[in-house]
Amino acid sequence: MLSPRKKISFLYPQPTPIDYLPTLSRELGVELYMKRDDLTPFGAGGNKLRKLEYLLYDALQQGATTLLTVGGAQTNHGRLTAAVAAKYGLKCVIVCIDDYPGEISANLLLDTIMDAEVVLKKNDGRDSSVQYAETVAAVNARHEAAGEVVYEIPVGGSNTIGMLGYYECAEEMTAQAKAMGLDDATVITGVGSMGTYLGLYCGLKNEGSPLSLTGIAISPFTEEKERRIIEIFNQAKQDYQFTISASRQDFHIETGYTRGAYNNPDPVVRSAIYRMARAEAIILDPCYTGKVFAGILDMLAEGKIHKGEKLIMLHTGGLPGIYTRHHRIEFEKELMDHVTIID
Ligand SMILES: Cc1ncc(COP(=O)(O)O)c(C=O)c1O
Repeated sequence: MLSPRKKISFLYPQPTPIDYLPTLSRELGVELYMKRDDLTPFGAGGNKLRKLEYLLYDALQQGATTLLTVGGAQTNHGRLTAAVAAKYGLKCVIVCIDDYPGEISANLLLDTIMDAEVVLKKNDGRDSSVQYAETVAAVNARHEAAGEVVYEIPVGGSNTIGMLGYYECAEEMTAQAKAMGLDDATVITGVGSMGTYLGLYCGLKNEGSPLSLTGIAISPFTEEKERRIIEIFNQAKQDYQFTISASRQDFHIETGYTRGAYNNPDPVVRSAIYRMARAEAIILDPCYTGKVFAGILDMLAEGKIHKGEKLIMLHTGGLPGIYTRHHRIEFEKELMDHVTIID
């Protein structure tokens, strides 16, 4: 039985580094650090590998031959599911209720290079959970009829098993922060399907870590999410017998920096990406980490983050997203003046 006490570590070297960002720290008047979960050296890296390490372990225990997961056409989680499947000799299917983005690029390109099957089902306007359930059932049945043992992974790998990867990361960061004199720092992470935030929350609170935690929602925090966050937390509390309790108010999640929609091109986010790249040569992505850094800059300007504070921004990866067509078009408009063409 998987639990926070059973450590799984076979996919990538741990710990990932925590880097100090000197130029931005000076410019912003805070002590800014970055936890480099983008540097997990596997399938182009990112936060989902921590979750997938536990999910893959569970899948292998159950004799799975195929990993099936869901997400948008440019899902980072799908790409990393394809990566672990390739490495461990499993098949991978990614089911998306989404349009074909017009080209095989970015994560979709990497998925197919790593031999995943991607099923794109056009959204017919009905409740997306119903469409997902129907499409997954049909795809699952097709693979089972072909003799495969299918292991289903929920969106973003965000169930109580996937969460264990970030529970472990919370313990890892607590030890690193202690060694670096950062005990009073605040960890800041993006919040999508919520497993990263919840894993960190449980790992920090249940282990009595002095670190604080702030989440920045990267897409509108719907009523469904409000309900789900408590549901997943309570399930984890029950599965792993946590002594901590929590209600919605205990989760510090900033919901005002979503820029309106999931994965939408946004000029403020692009300008945050330029700022990070030009000061620290660290590349953020337009869907998650760029939004998080833009949120940090806004929180500083609004006085929600104070001068002198110690911040550890979690870099959750997502770099391939920058090569998605709808983002590339907007970048090109702003960056073309950096290119000199000599005929
Ligand atoms: C690059 C990146 N950052 C952050 C997140 C958000 O993590 P979570 O879904 O666990 O909230 C995701 C999720 O897809 C992601 O791909």
